[in-house]
Amino acid sequence: MEHQQQGEHAADLLLPCLTLKEKDGVALITFDDKDAKVNTLNSKLTPQFEEVLEYVEKSSTIKALVLISGKKSCFIAGADIAELQAAKNEAEVKKLSQSGQEFFKRLSKLKQPVVAAINGSCLGGGLELALACDYRVATSAGNTVLGLPEVMLGLLPGAGGTQRLPALIGLEKALPMMLTGSNVKAEKAKRIGLVDYVVHPGGLQNKALEVAKALGEGKLKVNRKRKTTATSLLESVKAGKRFILQKALQQVESKTRGLYPAPKGIIEVLNYSVDHPDKGYLKESEVFAKLSQTPESKGLISLYFGQTDLKKNRYGSPEKPAEHLGVLGAGLMGAGIAMISLQKDFHVRLRDIGFDQIANGKKYIWSNLAKRVKRKSLSRFDAQKVMSRLFAQTDYKHFEECDIVIEAVFEDLDLKHRVLKEVEECSREDMIFASNTSALPISDIAKASKRPERVIGMHYFSPVHKMPLLEIIVTDQTTDDVAAAAVNVGIRQGKTVIVVGDGPGFYTTRILAPYMDEVAILAAEGVDFYTLDDAMMDFGYPVGPIALVDEVGIDVGYHVSESLGKAFGKRVSSGDLQILTELVAKGAKGRKSGKGFYLYQKQKKSVLDRFVGKKSSKKPINPEVIELINKMGKKTSKPIDLEDVQKRMYLRMINEAAYCLHDGILKRPLDGDIGAVFGLGFPPFHGGPFRFVDKVGAKKIVDDLKRYEDSLGERFSPAPNLVEMANSGARFYPE
Ligand code: NAI
Repeated sequence: MEHQQQGEHAADLLLPCLTLKEKDGVALITFDDKDAKVNTLNSKLTPQFEEVLEYVEKSSTIKALVLISGKKSCFIAGADIAELQAAKNEAEVKKLSQSGQEFFKRLSKLKQPVVAAINGSCLGGGLELALACDYRVATSAGNTVLGLPEVMLGLLPGAGGTQRLPALIGLEKALPMMLTGSNVKAEKAKRIGLVDYVVHPGGLQNKALEVAKALGEGKLKVNRKRKTTATSLLESVKAGKRFILQKALQQVESKTRGLYPAPKGIIEVLNYSVDHPDKGYLKESEVFAKLSQTPESKGLISLYFGQTDLKKNRYGSPEKPAEHLGVLGAGLMGAGIAMISLQKDFHVRLRDIGFDQIANGKKYIWSNLAKRVKRKSLSRFDAQKVMSRLFAQTDYKHFEECDIVIEAVFEDLDLKHRVLKEVEECSREDMIFASNTSALPISDIAKASKRPERVIGMHYFSPVHKMPLLEIIVTDQTTDDVAAAAVNVGIRQGKTVIVVGDGPGFYTTRILAPYMDEVAILAAEGVDFYTLDDAMMDFGYPVGPIALVDEVGIDVGYHVSESLGKAFGKRVSSGDLQILTELVAKGAKGRKSGKGFYLYQKQKKSVLDRFVGKKSSKKPINPEVIELINKMGKKTSKPIDLEDVQKRMYLRMINEAAYCLHDGILKRPLDGDIGAVFGLGFPPFHGGPFRFVDKVGAKKIVDDLKRYEDSLGERFSPAPNLVEMANSGARFYPE
């Protein structure tokens, strides 16, 4: 530690992650861990911060404090999850939580007022720290976000957040932030009372110093009186608080089907705090520790580390990172890919065959941007700037500018060959050609190329701007530099990128196919659609399989099942595809055509519904499907066991995932877990199919598969690696 006296009232304190500079009675404390991209509250930073507090407590000249970050895009990103994971048991976690609480209490009890100057992410422990300050100034920068995302890791804010946030902004506004982990930007944070002042990033430090000085001199008094509303009146009495929490619990139960303990834990702490306000912090640390030991939290944390790992490009930096993108096909996928790229500063040439198609593509992009403008998450000026980088065209003019061209034309090999040849004719030799095919092997597409080593798969998911996954497919010929450039594009587009080997359906589509096949078989056996959807939602999927086929498109599902059936036989596709063919012939292609397995017309409310305000959340079943099933289905006379229904569906997906690892499509289980969760909605709290096998035990999975193999046939034959693991007791991940 170095102390530098600079005159009577000025002193500097220089520590590796923190500096304190005092001027005119105000201490400016800057967090900046030079060894890390972001500041985290870890065992390196916290003792230094304690040293600073001690210094401030002893100072007779410091009248006020400003806490600011030296990082461009981060105030404090939160607590260190790895350190939390290293804690051996519940008791150790409780201690960690309590020391965090104590530390923030000490900060809040300083005799000097403290101003948090927030620019960039202020999340988790970072926000809990800001909440312990007396005043918060935040910048209007797009990347300034405040939030408590602990629930997404199966935890709760364990350093006082459950107590301080509701006390500051009220239960009604605090609950959604804590229960969903959603972030708020500065303007909204100001509206709900979470920050006191919003400033342009350039003026942050000066404004914070000015406020601190005024607070220190008693010239500024903080008045946080909230407007009186029906809710605030309700919140002012204990019974009202209990009522709000009971409603929140009902909503949590219906949304999570009781599968996620963290939101329930948050409500438990808040309920307890209503009756025991002096013991709220203790309860917070107890429930935090309990949650940290749940399998759900462990599954979610493993995904968090997996995602962090995938932020690095395992191929390294590409020789020439792409700036100009070409997109072929302005349909659902092409327009989506163009949009997310434009928003990340790429220049995009979007080509389709007719003016109507490109107009529709442009309209799709603009309407999505307009929604963001309306929600105030994008300014109109910035939306126009995004659009100015788009060139929509029906020819290949200026395609020589494109570093990478992503095709999203219809799923037809001949057509994909044609556009590949056309684009190679008018592009540079170093152009990369990427296909967004759902299932066609990339090496088959590359057969039409003059430069197959520059052909790669970039498989996005629908809707592109909402689905976080990008599955990149490399063939035996794809060069590492081409892979590096494609991964680089995906990461810059904000995607979680997995890289898999080539083959029919690659990874995600290949494991989806047997799952859907089992759904079709069960439906033909007479299990009704609601039961099928409910069974998988009870397992933890965000949507049921029937609703999912309708989303993806029955025509798409048919093509995929047919082509993967040819490649892998009964193990992947053994059901009768006739129902799908007949539905497509009747124009029932899923949600996009207004009908699929379900009907998607707007439901009219009956007089009774209107009177009681009740609306069924279930979509009506398409009667044409019932007719077809009755005509073709092989209804079983045996009673249907619900656990069996659930297991038959998920086991087929998991077994095929194991085959993908065995066949070398997946290089490691982590890619398979991330791909299944972020591309297909595999329940996140199970951590992915491979983590699930580790959790349940390979032996149990193989026993179940063999039982079904005996009664239902070869489609349940367990993958050889699973059998081996069942025999040896091995795991996919080390313990
Ligand atoms: P879509 O039918 O919405 O769009 C296809 C577009 O390609 C149409 O606008 C069509 O006019 C255009 N097109 C046809 N020939 C063309 C040519 N020669 N040059 C330029 N454009 C041409 O189809 P969607 O859903 O966007 O699918 C496109 C591709 O993405 C397919 O290979 C599909 O399998 C794949 N995919 C689809 C997903 C989905 O959920 N819809 C998910 C992942 C991949």
